[in-house]
Amino acid sequence: MRFCFENLEKVGKWDLDPQTVAFSDNEYSGDLLINDKHSGLKLRVYQLFYGGLRIRVDPTEPENFKRFDLSKEHIVVDQSIINKRAAITHTMSKAKSILVCKNETTATIHFSPFVIEVKSAGKAVVTVNPGQQMVFEHHNNTIQPETLGEYTDSIPNGPTAVGVDFLFPYPGMELSGLPERATPMNLEDTHETPIRLFNSDAYEYKHNKPQHLYASIPFVVAHAPVMTTGIFWVNPSDTFVNISTTDVGRKMRYISEGGFLDFIVYSTEYKDIISHYTSLTGKPAMPPVFALGYHQCRWGYKTQQEVQMVIRGLDEVQIPFDAIWLDVDHLNNRSPFGFDPDTFPSPQEIITDLQTKKRYMIRLSDPHLPVNSDWHRQSKEATEKDLLVKDNEKNVFIGECWPGISVWPDFLNPKTREWWADQYKYEVDTAAPNVFFWNDMNEPSIFDTDQSSFSKDAIHFGGYENREVHNLYGVMNTAGTFRGLINRDSLQNKRPFVLTRSFFAGSQRYTWTWTGDNTASWEHLALSLSMVTMSGLAGMPFTGADVGGFFKSCTPILLARWFQTASWVYPLFREHCHFESLRREPYLYEDEVFEALKSAVLTRYRMLPLWYTSTWITNQTGLPPVCPLWTEFPTSEKMHYVSNEVLIGGSILVAPCVTLEDSVHVTKPPGIWYEFDTGIELTSDKVFTPNILQTPVFIRGGKIITMFEEHGESALETYSKPLCLVVALGEKGLAEGEVYFDDGETFDFAQGSFIHRVFKVGKGLLKNTKGSSNQASIPKSVDNLTIRRVIVFGAKGCPENFINSSFENGVLSISSLNLPLKDDWEIKIQ
Ligand code: NOJ
Repeated sequence: MRFCFENLEKVGKWDLDPQTVAFSDNEYSGDLLINDKHSGLKLRVYQLFYGGLRIRVDPTEPENFKRFDLSKEHIVVDQSIINKRAAITHTMSKAKSILVCKNETTATIHFSPFVIEVKSAGKAVVTVNPGQQMVFEHHNNTIQPETLGEYTDSIPNGPTAVGVDFLFPYPGMELSGLPERATPMNLEDTHETPIRLFNSDAYEYKHNKPQHLYASIPFVVAHAPVMTTGIFWVNPSDTFVNISTTDVGRKMRYISEGGFLDFIVYSTEYKDIISHYTSLTGKPAMPPVFALGYHQCRWGYKTQQEVQMVIRGLDEVQIPFDAIWLDVDHLNNRSPFGFDPDTFPSPQEIITDLQTKKRYMIRLSDPHLPVNSDWHRQSKEATEKDLLVKDNEKNVFIGECWPGISVWPDFLNPKTREWWADQYKYEVDTAAPNVFFWNDMNEPSIFDTDQSSFSKDAIHFGGYENREVHNLYGVMNTAGTFRGLINRDSLQNKRPFVLTRSFFAGSQRYTWTWTGDNTASWEHLALSLSMVTMSGLAGMPFTGADVGGFFKSCTPILLARWFQTASWVYPLFREHCHFESLRREPYLYEDEVFEALKSAVLTRYRMLPLWYTSTWITNQTGLPPVCPLWTEFPTSEKMHYVSNEVLIGGSILVAPCVTLEDSVHVTKPPGIWYEFDTGIELTSDKVFTPNILQTPVFIRGGKIITMFEEHGESALETYSKPLCLVVALGEKGLAEGEVYFDDGETFDFAQGSFIHRVFKVGKGLLKNTKGSSNQASIPKSVDNLTIRRVIVFGAKGCPENFINSSFENGVLSISSLNLPLKDDWEIKIQ
C-alpha cells in the first residue's frame, strides 16, 4: 500500500519554531518546520490529570476532506478524562523547552532537530521522533488510484498518512501488546514484514504478507527491569508498525493511513499504566458470573433436537456447563435475528430448560443484513431509515456474506446504534433474560472484496471514508448490542454478555472476545497462551481461544491438554469448532481422556471464586486476570522472557502442557512457591512431566485464595457451595488474600451490594475481616456462604485443639469447619 511503502522508511528534518512556542491552560504548543520550511502543523502537549502525557499534531489550515478524530469519539475515549489536564510548568531556553508534571514526568522538547524526550523521576521513558521519521500528509494533493486485486481504491482525498518513530532507550527492552497477533508474548523485530493493525477475517500469518487478524488495539507496552512504558496510538485507520533493535534500545515506528498524529505516553509500572489507559478507554465491564463457566459450542448444531441432545449428553455424564451456543445454523436464511422456523420450531423449550439450571443460551447475531429483502424486517427498516454504509458513489454498499448479497448497518451513526439496540428487545425474536448474543463477522467480513472487508473509500456517517475509521466497526457494533441488552430489561439492571470477534480500544467496556478461527494443532494451543495474555495486557482482558481448535479435528490428547489450558488460563472457556471437524463434545470420550476433560471443567467450577474475584479487580482497575510474569516481578530480568507461564489473579502460576511431549519447563519466579496439588515447595526451575490428568500449577507464598469445595450444574448453582481457603505461607509465615462475590447477574454491585472479605495470616492466626468500605449490603444468594476447610502450605505442624486437622509434608488441612464468610473471625492455624 502506497501510504505504507512510501512512508515507512521516510526521514525528514523536523524543527520546532521557538518563536511560536506558547503555553497556556497547562498546554504547550508550537509550530513545526519540515526541511526548514513551514509545515502547516502545530504540536500540542499536555499531561492528562488521570495519567498519561498526550502529544498531538494538527494541521493549521483546513483540509478539503474530513479526518476522523478518535479522541472525540466517546464510545472509545472518555471525554472527561482526555480533556482534563494536570498542572505542569514550562521553562524554555534557546534550544529546548522543559515541561515538568507533578507526578515527576518531564518532557524535554528539543527544537532542532525536533525530538521529545520523556522521563519519569529522571529515568528515560521514551524518545519521540529520534530518527526524524515523523510524517503528516496534509497537502490536499491528488494521487493515482491504487489497484488491489480486482478492486481499485480511488483515494479521493489524496495522501493522508500520519506517523512517527519512538525509541525505548534501554538495551534488552521487550515490546508486548498490539493485539490481535498470533505471535509469542514479546514482539519480534519486524524486518521486512511490519505488523499491521487492520481488522479483517483472517487468522493465519501469511508468508511475506503483513499479518493482521480480526481486531486491533494500537496500545503497546515496552518493558525492561528498569522501566515500563505504554503508548496508546489514538488512531483507528489501517496502521503499520515496524520494530527494530539497536544498540541503545528498541525502536518502533507507526504509520497510519489517516487520522491525526495523536498518542499518549504512560509510565512507569504496568499496574499504573493499565489503570490509566483504562480510565481513558473504559474499565472492562463486570460480566455476569456465568461467563466464567464452561461453554458448549459448535458450528453445526443444525436443529433444535440436536441442541437438546447435546444438553442431555453433558447432563448425563454430569459435566456442568453454563451456556449452549447457537451458531449461524439456527438463523433464518443465515441472517440475523430470527430463528429458522423449520429447524428450530420452538426454541423457547430449550431456553426454559436451560433456565431451570440457571444456564444460558448464546445466539449468533452478525451485522450483515440481506439486501433489498422485504421479508427481512431489519434490512427493510435500516434501508428506509438510511442507516446503512454507502459506497464511494453514495449508493448503499453491497457485498457478499452469509445471507448472500448483503448490506451493513453504519454503526458510526449513533441513530444506527440506537436502532440496532432495539433489535435485542425481548419481544423481537425469542429472547429471554437468559439469552445473550455473539457478534461475529464484524470486521466486517465480506466475502467478495479484496481486503475481505469494506473498500477503503466506502462512506460512513458524517462523510468519513472507511479508510479513516476502518478498525472501529466491531467496537461500534458491540456498543449498540451492549446498550440493547441493558435496555431490554425493564429495570435496565442486568449485566449483558456479548462476544465479539472484532475489537478495538474501548471494546472492553462492552464485550468479551475470542481469538477466532484457530486450528486443532499443538502450535495453536501454545499460541493461544500468548494471544490471551497479550489481549489482556493491552486492555481486552476477557478472552479465550476455541477449545480444541476451530479448523480440523482434534486428537483426544490434544483436546485434554486444551481443556486444561482453558480451564486454568482462558477467561472464556468455550469448546467450539467448524462443522467439518469431528464432533468433540466431552461426553463422547471415555476412560482417562474423559476423566481429564471432566476434571478440567470441574476444576474451573471449583476455582470460580479466584476467577470472579480477579474479574472484579479487573473491572475496578483494568488489571487483567491473566498476566505475564514480568508484570508482577518487573525487576527480575528473567521474568521478561518467560512465555510459557502466566499468573492468574497474581497468586496462581500456570505452566500448561502445550506440547505432545508431556514435559514442561517451569521457571521459578522470585519468592516462595508451592505446587498447588501437593503443597511441595518449588525451590528452583524444574522440568515437570505431567500425566494426562495433571497441569503444572503453583501458588505463590504469601497469598490466600478461595475455592469452592463442591460444584453445581452451572456457575450460579455452584454459588451456594461451601468454600475452602488455601493459605500459602510466605516469608515470616505471612499471607493475605481477598474474595469477592455479588449476585452474579445485576448491576446492584455498583450500589454496594456485594461481599468482599480480606484474609490475613500473621503470628499463626488467620483473620477474616471486611474488605471494601463500599460494601453496603450482601446479596441473598451469597449471604450464607461458609468456609468449610482451610489448607495451609508451608505449615510447621497442627495447631492445638483442632479435632479435624491433619498435617503431612508441610501441608496442614483443617476440615469440617463452618465459618460464616460474612463474619469477622480469627482462627489459630499454627
Ligand atoms: C466465523 C467464526 O469465526 C466462527 O467461530 C463461526 O463458527 C463461523 N463464523 C460461522 O458462524
